Amino acid sequence: MTYKIPVYDINNEHSLSQTPNFNNKNALMKTDMVYQCEITNIVELTESEKLFQLKIINPIEAKIFSFLPGQFVMVEVPGFGEIPVSISGSTSRRGSVALCIRKVGKVTGILHKLKKGTMLGIRGPFGTHFPMKQMKGSNILLIAGGLGIAPLRAPIYWINEHRSDFENVHILYGVKTPEQILFDFQFDSWRKIYNYDIHVIVENSDKSWQGKTGLITDLFKDISIDVKNTYAIVCGPPAMFKFVCDYLNKQGLAMNQMFISLERRMHCGMGKCCRCMVGSTFTCVDGPVMDFWTVMNLKEAI
Ligand SMILES: Cc1cc2nc3c(=O)[nH]c(=O)nc-3n(C[C@H](O)[C@H](O)[C@H](O)COP(=O)(O)OP(=O)(O)OC[C@H]3O[C@@H](n4cnc5c(N)ncnc54)[C@H](O)[C@@H]3O)c2cc1C
Ligand code: FES
Repeated sequence: MTYKIPVYDINNEHSLSQTPNFNNKNALMKTDMVYQCEITNIVELTESEKLFQLKIINPIEAKIFSFLPGQFVMVEVPGFGEIPVSISGSTSRRGSVALCIRKVGKVTGILHKLKKGTMLGIRGPFGTHFPMKQMKGSNILLIAGGLGIAPLRAPIYWINEHRSDFENVHILYGVKTPEQILFDFQFDSWRKIYNYDIHVIVENSDKSWQGKTGLITDLFKDISIDVKNTYAIVCGPPAMFKFVCDYLNKQGLAMNQMFISLERRMHCGMGKCCRCMVGSTFTCVDGPVMDFWTVMNLKEAI
């Protein structure tokens, strides 16, 4: 077998359109910097999900760290690895980062064994966010499937804190079994204090379940939305958000008024390693939050 090595022509090398600015440390600091955190609280939500409350140790770093709903951090467990996790808390609680983590493998398994007081590292925040300011003055439809309620909590806190900026807020939440329902201890306060219309449905249940049984799309019968003045935020497995967004689109909701979080396996979180690419799109930088129009125009995104 013979191999042909391509000719390398130094005179035809692509030139950089701009000289990199190596003095611009800010851009690097935001992505490469590791914030040392302490786990200040752990809430066991279900058999496989825990809510971790982290506190950034250094007070100056705690003031620097800020994020927007939909963004994620890379969580580093020293000696075991690093994983992307959506921030599942309020943007206004400076220095405090809430993460809801499902135990699925090596790093998440270790995280589930950690105790209050353990130190962790986080990098970020990374990625795009839900355009909450653009949604001002509109009705909001928040739809979550399973663990999708975790990233949804950040826009929910945002709406709570800016309630008068938004019209009607509906939350539709679907899970496989009643035992998998997350954050139901907050539903009453969201209903009573913030006037949210919340509907929960489970796929499979026994007689002890008093609520609805079926698929998440069955909940659409229970609400009426004004498609001209509504934005939807949909988080969950790809099959679910495709189904949900297609349905809403058929009802007249524009594809660019629906936002989803497109999650892929990630390594660096900052556009360096190409691990997360869908076609030529970096889901860590150009995503994870994208409108449905953009996602449907990405080959092999779903
Ligand atoms: C932007 C983003 C936000 C995320 N937010 C959350 C969150 O809020 N809470 C949470 O629990 N998880 C979240 N994840 C998924 C989380 O990163 C993975 O579950 C984690 O990386 C698994 O690491 P592990 O070492 O435990 O699993 P591994 O031992 O590496 O793998 C175990 C199993 O999990 C699957 N897996 C690994 N990574 C992913 C992934 N990124 N997406 C889907 N399946 C995966 C593998 O295919 C394998 O089947 C998010 C992922 C992304 C990209
Ligand atoms: S995770 Fe490395 S480029 Fe996106």
